[in-house]
Amino acid sequence: MSYNLLKGKKGIIFGALDEKSIAWVSAIRCFEEGAEIILSNAPVAMRMGEINKLAGQVNAPVIPCDVSSNEDVENLITKAMEHFGGSFDFILHSIGMGVNVRKGKHYTEIDYGFNVKTNDISAVSLHRVLAACMKKDALNEWGSVIALTYIAAQRVFPDYSEMADAKALLESIARSFGYHYGVKKHVRVNTISQSPTRTTAGSGVKGFDGFIHYAEKMSPLGNASAADCANYIVSMFSDLTRMVTMQNLFHDGGFSFTGVTGPVIEQMEK
Ligand SMILES: NC(=O)c1ccc[n+]([C@@H]2O[C@H](COP(=O)([O-])OP(=O)(O)OC[C@H]3O[C@@H](n4cnc5c(N)ncnc54)[C@H](O)[C@@H]3O)[C@@H](O)[C@H]2O)c1
Repeated sequence: MSYNLLKGKKGIIFGALDEKSIAWVSAIRCFEEGAEIILSNAPVAMRMGEINKLAGQVNAPVIPCDVSSNEDVENLITKAMEHFGGSFDFILHSIGMGVNVRKGKHYTEIDYGFNVKTNDISAVSLHRVLAACMKKDALNEWGSVIALTYIAAQRVFPDYSEMADAKALLESIARSFGYHYGVKKHVRVNTISQSPTRTTAGSGVKGFDGFIHYAEKMSPLGNASAADCANYIVSMFSDLTRMVTMQNLFHDGGFSFTGVTGPVIEQMEK
């Protein structure tokens, strides 16, 4: 169902790799709610992925951008302004890459060169995108920027490894930049801390199957799906949430504030 919540709004959605991607599902929901969209992903991911299929579905151009490159980010923002005929309203940062995780390096033995890359792609890129937007005055008054994160930024999930540190940095950048962009132009910047979700990035975490099942049992409402997340993102891009900024918003069916649940106790008693 569409409520036209994003009618007249324009924005960039980063990170749609395939139809499981949270960004993919979000692009469809934003389009259904009346938004005009530009899709972006790393050039290498675009070669592997199916983004052109989504582009047709949501009537969006695709502009490649490796978010670890200043030049790519500047180019994307310039091209986005050309396409939209000026400034725009929202950005979804749905990007993560754990290089040490990929290379099978344990948290206690990470390669620091890889770690710099992980933090750059997964966290500092939010700063880079916001800085480029600020410099070019690319975001409208009361614009809204969302980055996706995970509760491993606050609590230990051992196999999430270096990505926990990257997410803590991402959340901090959202707060810090959110202050400056709020003062300057009423632009709001928030992170959404999503339940484990079966996507390419999600499934890269060791023991993901057991883990997603555990989270389901530990959440009074169950795990939030990518579709639920997309709905929340729509609400955060809409004018109905104008005074929310610099927050880390848990979207996890109650997992973050649950100590234990009946089903988990039953499991332990078996
Ligand atoms: N899946 C989960 O369980 C879960 C839970 C909480 C938060 N998140 C977060 O949600 C976001 C989206 O992940 P997803 O689960 O939809 O997986 P996904 O694999 O579909 O998306 C990750 C995206 O990051 C992109 N990316 C990687 N390196 C890039 C670069 N250098 N430049 C530009 N883009 C790059 C990938 O191409 C991909 O499209 C990530 O930030 C992830 O950490 C996921």
